[in-house]
Amino acid sequence: MAERLSGKSAFVTGAGGGIGRGIAEVLAANGASVTIAEINDETGRSTADELCLTGYEAQYYHVDIRSEDDIKAGIVAHMERFGALDILVNNAGQNQHFDASQMTVDEWEKSMSLNLRGAWLCCKHALPIMAKQNAGVIISIASVHATMTANNFFPYNVAKSGILGLTRSIALDWGHHNIRAVAVSPGWVRTQPAIDFLEAADDPAAEEQRVKDLHPVKRIGEPRDIGALVAFLASDEAGYITGTEIVIDGGISARYAG
Ligand SMILES: NC(=O)c1ccc[n+]([C@@H]2O[C@H](COP(=O)([O-])OP(=O)(O)OC[C@H]3O[C@@H](n4cnc5c(N)ncnc54)[C@H](O)[C@@H]3O)[C@@H](O)[C@H]2O)c1
Repeated sequence: MAERLSGKSAFVTGAGGGIGRGIAEVLAANGASVTIAEINDETGRSTADELCLTGYEAQYYHVDIRSEDDIKAGIVAHMERFGALDILVNNAGQNQHFDASQMTVDEWEKSMSLNLRGAWLCCKHALPIMAKQNAGVIISIASVHATMTANNFFPYNVAKSGILGLTRSIALDWGHHNIRAVAVSPGWVRTQPAIDFLEAADDPAAEEQRVKDLHPVKRIGEPRDIGALVAFLASDEAGYITGTEIVIDGGISARYAG
């Protein structure tokens, strides 16, 4: 399956670390050329450099997905380097924990611009290119919090629910241009925010074991687990999958909590 995405190119936001990096690595290993669209210059550049050293085609471009100008410039740079935009992965995002009665309008807007508006803006600038190509796949990383949630995940869960709506609309409105849109909803994945959460416990090892035991697969996901799913969804083998959400959570959401 090494050449599953050969000849294709991908623009992955937040690909300097965590899940985004895992996605970029697996897409590249499947033959895709990748733009690492990242706000952190150090991790973005080192990720692109490491992919190139491995023999893959990659470039770094500074993109803050809260800025439409950055997104526009990033996509122009992608087109200049790779000549097509086959795969957009809306990955950058961050958990937030606010009290709905205390949160300010400014905090709300900052959260939405990162967790929802940025994905729409990337679609806005990718869709005309994909329509011209008569081909494209847009994969947006939502979360299990898009369809269920826990206390104190506001308004992150609201934004992630919005990603599912965005995905459905794009699938419906752009399908006749041979563009597919799919949302991927991970559960626990071992990235810095998850590590920080575990380490904040009184007994981090016991907390990690507790979390692992919640999963039928008895482990926490790794960024490359998400990358493997994204590589499949981006490929022609997934040509009948659009307008929907795929949950990837080690089975944690199969359990009825009642
Ligand atoms: N880790 C999990 O357990 C988990 C579970 C469900 C969903 N998710 C979702 O997966 C995505 C990635 O999460 P993660 O855990 O890898 O986070 P992370 O913090 O490890 O990585 C996020 C990356 O995005 C970059 N980034 C942050 N703000 C940006 C911006 N404005 N513009 C461009 N890049 C930016 C960061 O520099 C970093 O490289 C997020 O959308 C998150 O909501 C994560």
